[in-house]
Amino acid sequence: MALPASFISELKARLSITDIVSSYVNLKRRGRNMIGLCPFHSEKTPSFTLYPENGSFCCFGCGVGGDIITFTMKIENLDYIEAVKLLAAKAGMSMPEDSYYDDSIAKLKGRILEANREAARFFHAQLMSENGKAAQEYLMGRALSRQTVVRFGLGYAPANRFALSSHLRKKGFKDEEIVAANLAFQKSGGKGIVDRFSDRVMFPIIDLRGNVIAFGGRILTDQKPKYLNTSDTLVFKKSANLFSLNNAKNSGLRTLILCEGYMDVIAVNAAGFQNAVATLGTALTSEQALLMKRYADEVIICYDADEAGQKATARAIEILRNAGLVIRVLTVPDGKDPDEFIRKNGDRGQAAFKNLIESSGNDVEYRLTKIRLMHDLGRPDSKAAYMKEALKVISGLDSVIEQDIYCSRLSEELGIRKDAITEDLNKLKASKRKDDYKKEYKKVSDNLVGNNEKLNSERKQNIRGAKAEEMLIAYIFHNPDMLKKAEELISDKDFVTTFNLRFYQYISDKIKSGLPPDLSIAQDFTSDEVSRFYYIINSYNSQTATVAAMKEYIDTIKFEKGKLSKQDLADMSAEEIMLSMKNRKKPKP
Ligand code: CTP
Ligand code: MN
Repeated sequence: MALPASFISELKARLSITDIVSSYVNLKRRGRNMIGLCPFHSEKTPSFTLYPENGSFCCFGCGVGGDIITFTMKIENLDYIEAVKLLAAKAGMSMPEDSYYDDSIAKLKGRILEANREAARFFHAQLMSENGKAAQEYLMGRALSRQTVVRFGLGYAPANRFALSSHLRKKGFKDEEIVAANLAFQKSGGKGIVDRFSDRVMFPIIDLRGNVIAFGGRILTDQKPKYLNTSDTLVFKKSANLFSLNNAKNSGLRTLILCEGYMDVIAVNAAGFQNAVATLGTALTSEQALLMKRYADEVIICYDADEAGQKATARAIEILRNAGLVIRVLTVPDGKDPDEFIRKNGDRGQAAFKNLIESSGNDVEYRLTKIRLMHDLGRPDSKAAYMKEALKVISGLDSVIEQDIYCSRLSEELGIRKDAITEDLNKLKASKRKDDYKKEYKKVSDNLVGNNEKLNSERKQNIRGAKAEEMLIAYIFHNPDMLKKAEELISDKDFVTTFNLRFYQYISDKIKSGLPPDLSIAQDFTSDEVSRFYYIINSYNSQTATVAAMKEYIDTIKFEKGKLSKQDLADMSAEEIMLSMKNRKKPKP
């Protein structure tokens, strides 16, 4: 059963999409619409557009679209019912009885979170018990205070591989729920389940709402794997979360310290810096960078000093820059990681680390230093090579003033006239601009033409026809009065793609029943389909299109439909082919 349409309509009427979106995106007015930097992909010039008049948004950079509900789903990582619940709470409306909708997924998610919370309690109690002696000693050996252990809710998964499962069963959790939480897995071949974590120190991963969404577990010895992490579940996506962001968010600072590991974050916290975060056993993703952007303007990268850490730094710089974050790079001396560094400095750990933060340079300085170290500046050919590499970095800077500063430095450092350097820089910038423009153009046109098409599989075979269908859908959406006229000219069998036909049928049904042709109350569309719908209705200038234009769309659709495929031709007799050619109507130019 679906939620009553009247409920969704009232919800949408009570909430302003502009208010909701503004709490995540910095919007500026442009005519009747609002624009801003897209929260769903990294960009420096805004292509995210909000249409308050029809309560929808779409981004021409990454091709997402939607209404207030799909926006909430995407930005908060929720399913449909959860997003509606969240919005209903904001609108001060109580949800209809749950017999109206299928919330089995939402319920299972709730159970997973409860199981995780219970597991975190269990692990923590185990750590504090006689059973956890070895783990306690291990943590003490790493200089963690009891206060820190409690603050991070650290725990211990006992060696007995049934300990947690039987505890959770006693608490009323079903085996399926425990497995769905990835706290245990099905025994291969046999019956029953086995704990995923055993004989490990446990680090709970907590989201911004305070839910325990996953765990990392460290072995107490030198054995491998050193860490075991929860795999992705219904409530956890490792590429889209950060360890300790829940603490960092409350630091009151708009700066984050990005570390490599759990222990680094904990040590940096214990040294008094609440704003440390880490990825969850994978390299930094652009999703994580966008998440950071919501809570920070600046990120201090604080990775290990080893080669892997330096490689990861170079990657992170790229990703964070693309998300529009200001970057500093902190280098821990003597090849140590932050945890070791703070520990080694004992009582002075906090002051010493503060010192490192304060002396950390920006990412440009970091990159230029790296490049310089690879070249012998005493040799002219190396000097030229260094300059070439350095200019590549400088040309990527957004600010001309910044570029000028580094050109001056290069000039002094290399003893080369500054105007010669600037001239080279300008050449490089010109060619880069062209490349960037080409890339940007390709992205937008790929979205419009549908080269990244996955939803509408027939679109590729007949782009002209599919586009005309989309224009027709957009036109009818914006001009519902014209549906009657359209229906005189086109029928379902004329459509080129069944995907677009579904949209057309849906909105025409709505219009005929006197309802807004609104897709968010249609639960037979997936959120990706809803997203596509709003992208379509906002992609074409159909608000201002005329009836003549509508007729043209319809003619095009019919003409394209009438085209015969090679297979059709092979199956037809010569007379049949002649006949069908004669009946084919040409579209107007
Ligand atoms: N990691 C992982 N799986 C591994 C090794 C590492 O998921 N087998 C992740 C963990 O999130 C870990 C981070 O990568 O925190 C950094 O790894 P590493 O530097 O090796 O660990 P540390 O955090 O320094 O842990 P420790 O100090 O306990 O060795
Ligand atoms: Mn370490």
